[in-house]
Order: sequence, then structure tokens, then C-alpha cells
Amino acid sequence: MDKSSINEDVDPVYPIAERMLGDHKANVEDIVKYEEMWESSINTPDIFFGDLARELLSWTKPFERVQQGSFHEGDIAWFLEGELNACYNCVDRYALETPDKIAIIHEGDEPENVRKITYGELLQEVCRLSNVLKSMDVHKGDKVIIYMPMIPEAVVAMLACARIGAVHSVVFAGFSSDSLRDRIEDCGAHVVLTSDEGRRGGKNIATKLIVDEAIKGTTTTTSTVRHVLVYRRTGSDVPWTENRDLWWHDEMAKARPYCPLTTMSSEDPLFLLYTSGSTGTPKGIVHTTAGYLIGAASTVKYVFDYQPGDIHACMADIGWITGHTYIVYGPLALGATTVLFESTPTYPDPSRFWKMVEKHKVTQFYTAPTAIRALRRLGDKWLEGIDLSSLRVIGSVGEPINPEAWEWYNAQIGKGECAVVDTYWQTETGSIIISPLPGVTPTKPGSATLPFFGIKPVILDPQTGAELEGNDVTGVLAISQPWPSMARTVYNNHHRYLETYLNPYKGFYFTGDGASRDKDGYIWIRGRVDDVINVSGHRLSTSEIESALIHHESVAEAAVVGGHDDLTGQCIHAFTTLKPNVEISEGLEKELSLQVRKVIGPFATPKRIYVVSDLPKTRSGKIMRRILRKIVNKEHDDLGDISTLADPSVVDTLIFKVLGPD
Ligand code: PRX
Repeated sequence: MDKSSINEDVDPVYPIAERMLGDHKANVEDIVKYEEMWESSINTPDIFFGDLARELLSWTKPFERVQQGSFHEGDIAWFLEGELNACYNCVDRYALETPDKIAIIHEGDEPENVRKITYGELLQEVCRLSNVLKSMDVHKGDKVIIYMPMIPEAVVAMLACARIGAVHSVVFAGFSSDSLRDRIEDCGAHVVLTSDEGRRGGKNIATKLIVDEAIKGTTTTTSTVRHVLVYRRTGSDVPWTENRDLWWHDEMAKARPYCPLTTMSSEDPLFLLYTSGSTGTPKGIVHTTAGYLIGAASTVKYVFDYQPGDIHACMADIGWITGHTYIVYGPLALGATTVLFESTPTYPDPSRFWKMVEKHKVTQFYTAPTAIRALRRLGDKWLEGIDLSSLRVIGSVGEPINPEAWEWYNAQIGKGECAVVDTYWQTETGSIIISPLPGVTPTKPGSATLPFFGIKPVILDPQTGAELEGNDVTGVLAISQPWPSMARTVYNNHHRYLETYLNPYKGFYFTGDGASRDKDGYIWIRGRVDDVINVSGHRLSTSEIESALIHHESVAEAAVVGGHDDLTGQCIHAFTTLKPNVEISEGLEKELSLQVRKVIGPFATPKRIYVVSDLPKTRSGKIMRRILRKIVNKEHDDLGDISTLADPSVVDTLIFKVLGPD
């Protein structure tokens, strides 16, 4: 586990953000109150979460039991017998009360293209689309794939599914047609929602073309795509399949702007979201209606200290869990105004984020350490003359934030007056599980600090699984009690859910991350202990990249490891050997790189590809990735025991190949 650049021996140095004091009263008053609330959330979860669920959500039928099930059995359920609809909770109840309030501010790719959508308008759009989906024969429980750029219609699509009880699976529009096809096939979707093209950073992205490619190759009988509904975003010509493809605007024009709500049980699935694990194909993580919504809404309330009138800006893509929870469901469940950002942090120039904050008077701003590091590197001149005084809480997510980036974010963006929340969570946890609370938790740069309500983190010995009690311990991070927004299963593969999360350490949920608890009881996340690489906050599986490489006709074997990268956190180093009689040709490395882009998507492009004559293997033929990892991270002086290698001389050749003659 990487301990570099982390200094946990500091006292909590940023006691309380200035802007959280004064007239503003935080949702949790102080650390004593936090401790009391946390204790009751752990000791009497039925009371704590029962009250929270009644306070934050509207129910058509009240739940009778707050929770049942255990990590031992893997049969967790919350808010049993309760009935509700997520779309009603996020749209209708605010459209009824405050129809003119802005629900979505869309900051288009070009800064001057701003669209504002009120709750009243959102309800009509969602209803229309719900009726369109029904006309395409989509029923409760059916899966719908959303492969769309960052436009309000993508949010409308998610909410329309939720309204009629269809289960959406948003696929990040940076995924390739192969990846999209895998997901369509795995969930058996009959309907795909997309746009003619996307726009990002001044470039067009051929979303419809990718959807066509994906569908062309589908092979399973369960996944016959009957309809593709296409939103016209750029107006470019796109190929068209008659009867299957339908224009969004044509269908919407025919649809009635009211659609009745489908009542859902608390435990009915709300969505599937595919994510990479250490082995096998991506898993369809299943989140259910009530528990997920409680996690989303309560963390916006407490971690982002939401107050009426706030403008909440999460910079993630809706294709990832961060976008689901902190652009769509969390803010809208509280009736907030949420910002949907279509562009990149540097388009048209690196002042983009900050000008947007100024323009919309953003109060909560949430992004990833990679973006913070990149903008810091580009210099403070991009901040000059921009008024960031609307900000109150600034958040970070997706990867460990190094203290230098934290300090810059705090000083330059927060002006030392905002709460900086380093929020730790995962696709599987549904919502933030470890984070400071604004105005409450004294922070230490680089630490995600303390658990959210209902979360009981434990540090386990990775080998024995024994709980490491007390402070000043390092091991793997697990959670010892179920919480409402945790994933309930892996779609169509509950066995895999148990094997990945609940069986590695019986009685605990295993996060896959290493962590320490310091002398003050603060949690420091050390990064993944499995074969998952985190590049710019994007989660990638080494085995998926390896299998993409092996599909290339020249490649015999592939081994992928994560290297340290100052900007992206980690980067991909890929080692390949070639089949017998295949010569290394000019441009082969580039071809292999393209292969990964084609099979997974451009964000998975390896930073370095090495074509080598041999890989470090044990006598039984197992590739020792540990050695490759040490070499790419220049830790080759500390390779540990290499006596089990079939041919130890391979190590020197690899060191030479990766690091050169020095
Ligand atoms: O390794 C942890 C890292 O991101 C992983 C989860 O990735 P994903 O499911 O894609 O969700 C990302 C956004 C919630 C975790 O297992 N991670 C996430 N947040 C942090 C983090 N690592 C350190 N500090 C964080 N704040």
C-alpha cells in the first residue's frame, strides 16, 4: 500500500471553515453533535434511518420495518413494505410546490450555451418521455440503456425510467461500441436512448454511430434492441435504421405531458450501473429505490450541507455513480438546483470551471483530484479577477487527493473560507461513506476523515481477516454493518456479489481498498489492494485491459499494472509478448494502444506499452505482476523474493526495457 506523500502525523489543521460560521447554521451543529448522531445511527439504526426516511422522502405506503438481513447471508433489505416512486420524490413534489424553481442549469459545451429548466418543465418533459417509453413497450422492470452526452435529456431519461419503474443503465458515452454491446447483452435491454452526436471540448462525438456498431454485433437472443430513440444534439447526418430508430422530438411531440406514476417497492431496483472489478467482465451493480435515495439525499444534506437556494455543481459525468448520486438523485430529491456541465475543465481555457462558478453563483462544487491537479499545474492566472465568493463547500472524489492538491484547492478555490470535503465512496456504496462534515469535522489534507451516519468502518489484517482495533493501524478497509444505499446484488449474478464483497472477510463488506486509521481515528485511503487501476478517478480492471490486448492477433500474453502518475494518480503500463513467428513491427505499440481504445474506450489508453520477449513467471507459469508493478514504479531495488521465478534473468531485461540503461 502506497504511503508516499501522505503525512498523517499532523493534527487536524483546518478546524472549521470560516464560511460555515457566521450567519450560516450548518445542518449538523458541531463535532459533539456529529458523534451523538453517528452513535445513534450505528446503535439504533432503525430509529435513526426510520426518522431520516420519513423526513427526506415521500411515501405512498409507509414502510413497516426499517431493515433486515445481514452480511453473513447477503440478504440485505431496507424500508420493507414501503412504497414510493423516485421520480415523484425528485420531481413531482417540487413541481407541485415550486414549479418555477430552476431544477437544472445546463452549462453547454460552449460557455454561452446555458439552458435552465424549472421543476415544472422537468415534470412535463419526464412525463412525455415516460409515455414515449411506454409506447415503445417498456414496462416495469425492463432495462433501458442510456448512452447520452451531458445534456438535460439524459437526466430526463433517467427520471422517466424511474417514473414507470424501468431500470436504467447509463453507459458512460466514452465507452467503445464493444463495451456498450457487452452491457446491452448483459442486461438484455430492448431500448437504447442516445443522441445523434455529443459535444465535448469543441469536438463532436459520434454517439449514434457507436450505438449502431454495438447493436450490429449483439448476439444473444435476449438482447434484441427493438428501438433506438435519438435526441438531435448537433444536427449532423447519422445513419438510420427504419422502424428501429426514432427521433426523440417526433415521439415527444406525440406524447401527453402527464404520465401516471408506477408505484415501486422500496427494494425494487432503481438502476444498474456497470463497474469494473478485479476479474471477469464488468458487473451490473444493482441499486434499489428507497435505500439508494436515502443515501443520496442525506449525503447532499449533510456532507454538502445543502440549504434552500443552494446551487449544487458536481462536475462528474452521469455515466458514473458520482453523476447519478450528486448530479441527479441527491440534489433533486432535496429540490435543489443542480448544474449539468457538458464541457471539460480546460475548454475553451482553464478558467472554465471558475467562470462557471461565478456565473451561476455555485455554492457546492465537486470534482476529482485529477482535475484539481491539472488546473493547479496550469497556474493561478486562470483564477484572476473571478469571484468565487458564492462557494461554501468544495468537494473531491474518486481517488486519493494528495496534500499539495488539497492545499491548493483550499487556498485558491475555497480562499481558506470553505469546507473542503474529501469524500470517499464507491459505485457499490451508492453514496458517500467517509467524509468530513462542513463546519463540523476538523480536516487533515489527504484524509477522508470520519464515517458518515450508518457507516462503521473497520481495518482488517489482509491475511488473517482479524479486526485491527484501536488507532495507528493499517490494513484493508471493510464495513461492519449494512447501510441503506449499499448495492444489493450484481445483476443476474448474486454469487459474484457474495464472492466479491461479502465472502472475502465473513461478516464484513470488503471495499477492495487499503486504509489506515491514524492516532486521531481519522481514515486515510491508500488505494486499491486488488487488480483495479484508478486513472483520473476512472476505475479500470487490469484483466479487462489484458483481455483487450490478447484479442490482437499478434499478442500471446499480456500483463497490465498500475504505475504512479503525478497528474492522473495512476496510469496504465501494459506488457505484452508476441506469438511465435511474429516479428515486432514498426507501429505495433500504437496498434495495441488503439486496440485497447477500441475494445474499452479512449479513457483506458495505456500510457506505456512494452513489447517484451518474456514476462516474469513462476515455475507454474503464473505471471508475477508484483514485479512489474515495482519496476514501473522505480522500486526495483526492493523486488522482494524473486527466487520463485522460472527465469530470474528476465527481471534485468525488463528493468532495462522500462527504465533504460541507468
Ligand atoms: O479506490 C477508491 C477510489 O475509487 C474507488 C471507487 O471507484 P468508483 O466505484 O468508480 O467510484 C468513484 C466515485 C465514488 C474506491 O474503491 N476512491 C473514491 N473516492 C476516494 C477514493 N480513494 C481515495 N479517496 C477518495 N476520496
